[in-house]
Amino acid sequence: MLTMTLENVLTAVENKVLTITVNRPDKLNALNAKTIEELHETLIEAENDKEIRAIILTGSGAKSFVAGADIAEFANFNIEQGKSLSATGHFKLFNFIENYSKPIIAAVNGFALGGGLELAMACHMRVASDNAKMGLPETSLGVIPGYGGTQRLAQLVGKGKAFEMITTADMINAQDAYKWGLVNYVVTPEELLTKCKEIAAKITSRSPVAVKTAIKVINAGFNNKYNGYDVEIEEFGKMFGTADFKEGVKAFLEKRKPSFNGN
Ligand code: COA
Repeated sequence: MLTMTLENVLTAVENKVLTITVNRPDKLNALNAKTIEELHETLIEAENDKEIRAIILTGSGAKSFVAGADIAEFANFNIEQGKSLSATGHFKLFNFIENYSKPIIAAVNGFALGGGLELAMACHMRVASDNAKMGLPETSLGVIPGYGGTQRLAQLVGKGKAFEMITTADMINAQDAYKWGLVNYVVTPEELLTKCKEIAAKITSRSPVAVKTAIKVINAGFNNKYNGYDVEIEEFGKMFGTADFKEGVKAFLEKRKPSFNGN
């Protein structure tokens, strides 16, 4: 399956689901440039692997999902380097995940702060363990969220709560995150991966081409270059030319489970 040797990222494939673990536990899995590059490379390889139909993204250890961008790495950056840090992150990881062709579920197993919460928010859905703490503390460091947090937090929890979380830099607990729609489920730490795998297992039984198209069309509605309804009409039409559609409908009429091949 996946062939790369990685320093800060672990991978495991089971039942068509790839689990990616950010693995810098001594730094609470903070995202340095190498980790972002390795996550990017892993995702590129998984994109081309037809055996992988869904992804779970989590952090190593019991304490932290990802505690943010690596503060030590950007401490002496100038304006240009700051801009490039943000742009590279958007391009290689955060927008890349949001627009990925296979659903990515964030298993938030502890601190998801700054770039860590931004990473979870770029994923298509989030499940949190009940010990998780989430926040965008950047204003406490004299910066703002730079990996999509100003946009995605407002999309997920609404503008008012996003203004509060970003300007106070406060953390919220998993129950509040659930209440605000920031996470889909809250479970115990022991149940976290099981719950994510349950969701992923359903996804792997659906048409990969339909799932990929659904991600594209949902995202179109949040991109002001597009009219989401127009994109939906176009893409809905295209589905009728796919082998998965023919198989799905045939299986329904024959009262059997479909066997999709993603074409
Ligand atoms: N960047 C770089 N290193 C980080 C980090 C980050 N975002 N978050 C944690 N670490 C490192 C710490 O520096 C420490 O390293 P050290 O042992 O070499 O000194 C190690 O991870 C453990 O963190 P520590 O602060 O000792 O753990 P804690 O339990 O006392 O506190 C947090 C946990 C999450 C509250 C605290 O680490 C923290 O506030 N991290 C920064 C969060 C943040 O502001 N993120 C947004 C960045 S834009």
